[in-house]
Amino acid sequence: MKTQFGNILLRRRKELGFTQEYIAKALHLSAQAISKWERGKTMPDILLLPALADLLQTSTDELLGHHRQYGKTVYDDRYKADEFYWGLEPNEMCYDILRLKPPSQRRLVLDMGCGEGKDAVFLARCGYDAVGFDLAAEGIAKAKWLASQHPTAAAEFFRADMLEYVPQQEYDILFASGVLHYLPPERRGAILQEYQRCIRPGGLCALNVFVQKPFIPPPPDEEIDGGYWRSGELFSLFADWKFHRCEEIIFDCVSGGTLHQHVMDILIAEKIV
Ligand SMILES: C[S@@+](CC[C@H](N)C(=O)[O-])C[C@H]1O[C@@H](n2cnc3c(N)ncnc32)[C@H](O)[C@@H]1O
Repeated sequence: MKTQFGNILLRRRKELGFTQEYIAKALHLSAQAISKWERGKTMPDILLLPALADLLQTSTDELLGHHRQYGKTVYDDRYKADEFYWGLEPNEMCYDILRLKPPSQRRLVLDMGCGEGKDAVFLARCGYDAVGFDLAAEGIAKAKWLASQHPTAAAEFFRADMLEYVPQQEYDILFASGVLHYLPPERRGAILQEYQRCIRPGGLCALNVFVQKPFIPPPPDEEIDGGYWRSGELFSLFADWKFHRCEEIIFDCVSGGTLHQHVMDILIAEKIV
């Protein structure tokens, strides 16, 4: 059975490009021992943890899945108001999901960076089992309230950081809208690979990312406060998936009071193996 420790170790090792043999050699152990830790068959001796954490450039707390207390985020202030900051209209990718993988059988959706939960609650109302997480406590509180207004809809929410969270079960659909620019560029591939791993064969990823194009001026208010993706970068991380939609759009936006444009890459991809 997989353990949180095993998942974290595997993710961190892959992020750093280390082999099991490399870790084993540094700790004077066999590669099989590391493999067993990652597969949740055994746990390391507690006295090895500081050296393992140093090697993986992390802390023993992080290795054991003990997360820091999350601070307040800019979104907490935005989500405090009664009205829904992003409105209640579902994102259009929800309709791709409905069309491609209708909830005619039990299907589990994970909404990363779910904000105030409008998309997860919409999908739950359509018949999916939806789970959403976000870093903003106010967003999670709003999402839970929204779900409570639809008691027959199966939607659950919790607070987590997508940079650290390790999915604990398999999902049919991974959904993330307007969120992935918060992944640091150098960790995007490794982190998305971990999320890809938790999708069942035949499942979908429905994702969008803000990208930069040389002919579109940056927005006046620096609202993309994470990092833009390169045009096409998202698609390249799903090269061995089946693409149902792979699109780049340019759209107008008036946030901050000034008309400007954004470019977004949209991907709906199915896991084949
Ligand atoms: C532009 S909003 C999009 C919210 C929602 N997906 C929607 O479309 O309504 C970005 C969201 O990402 C969340 N976020 C930012 N960094 C995050 C992280 N590291 N882990 C989880 N959520 C994060 C923010 O709190 C915010 O709710």
